[in-house]
Amino acid sequence: MLYCMRRRNRVPELTIVVPTYNERKNLVPFMTNLASALAGIDYEAIVVDDDSMDSTAAAARSLAQHDRRIRVLQRIGRRGLASAAVEGMLAASSPFLLVMDADLQHDERVIPAMLEKIKAERLDVVVATRNAEGGSMGEFAKERVGLSKAGRFLSSMVCRVPISDPMSGFFVVRSEYFHRVVHNLSCIGFKILVDLLASSREPVRVGEVGFRFRNRVHGESKLDILVGMEYLQLLLHKLTRGMIPVSYLLFGMIGAVGVVCNFVLAGLFSYSFDLSFKSAQFAGALITIAINFLLNNELTFRSARLRGRRFLEGLGIFYACCSIGLFAQVMVANGLRAGGMNWPTATLAGIAIGSVWNYSTAFLFVWQVRRRRTQLLAEAYADAGANLMGARSATEIPPSC
Ligand code: GDD
Ligand code: MN
Repeated sequence: MLYCMRRRNRVPELTIVVPTYNERKNLVPFMTNLASALAGIDYEAIVVDDDSMDSTAAAARSLAQHDRRIRVLQRIGRRGLASAAVEGMLAASSPFLLVMDADLQHDERVIPAMLEKIKAERLDVVVATRNAEGGSMGEFAKERVGLSKAGRFLSSMVCRVPISDPMSGFFVVRSEYFHRVVHNLSCIGFKILVDLLASSREPVRVGEVGFRFRNRVHGESKLDILVGMEYLQLLLHKLTRGMIPVSYLLFGMIGAVGVVCNFVLAGLFSYSFDLSFKSAQFAGALITIAINFLLNNELTFRSARLRGRRFLEGLGIFYACCSIGLFAQVMVANGLRAGGMNWPTATLAGIAIGSVWNYSTAFLFVWQVRRRRTQLLAEAYADAGANLMGARSATEIPPSC
């Protein structure tokens, strides 16, 4: 009797973490499929939803009321597949943690084999792969197959172990391994598996199980150009061993685009518009700073994005900061050169000082990241309270699991 009670109270053997963003229509079939594929396995499923506009979280809570294996983690004012997966895993106490998509593209029928393999072979991670025996990209669009190949090639620079499908978002990890590397994770973008494999100081024991990637029926993919940029950020973060802040890397990448832009614009103005060299340089720099500001507003500091009147104020301050940055850059380069340093090193040192100045002042004065984040969070919590009240009545879905 006591033994039975202990068994019933024990933590499930497997936690399935399901990041969701606008997947309401997929939830019922997802949970139904899971229940039939995992008959006989002691599991729980944690839906980690980023406050989807289609009220996925409310729908998941409604399912959870009829099935205690389902739990919900709703994140407010946050976005990101990787960070959602990590926070879901942190909310679990099971010995095995599995991450999979909610959109039915991952075949739940391979889960028992994945679990069996990680246990039997005492592995750290087992990946459900599309690129090995028994696996297939399914009807994945040609461009996506190409992108996946490029991503796989790039991942080999940071992953500590060769695997056939590092882009997969379907894998099971031993909880001990996860907790060993969790503080080294970057949690940027979509590619949590690459992050997990690149964050270990010791060799990782990895296994693979093939599966066929299915087509999405409801809803749409969230993969876009931003997610692609985030992947590059993740790789840079890993290559620099996390020493440089992620947003500085993006700021630097945008700065590099700015250099090319400035060059092209200055050439265009002096040759096509017949401006003097000095005016062409000035016009080119003026437009480049505005383009940099726009890109940083949309990408680097998107969580503190400026709109309306604040956008114009921010642009003004950004011009002021960049002018001082440019002045500092020239002064440093000149000073070093005068002290006998060769010109490429002096120029690079000037650029480094200028960009650190621009980044720090942009962070502190233009986007005022720290102060505005607190303010945005307070607003998001207030809005979410109101949303939830309205959403509740409209989102009841029939319990079928
Ligand atoms: N919480 C949360 N937050 N979930 C998200 C977010 C987010 O910002 N963005 C996407 N998701 C969820 C989706 O709701 C879905 O359940 C899952 O993450 C995958 O997102 P999709 O938008 O369907 O991605 P995909 O199909 O383009 O990419 C998939 O295939 C890749 C292989 O090429 C994902 O499985 C990737 O993980 C996988 O690497
Ligand atoms: Mn998908």
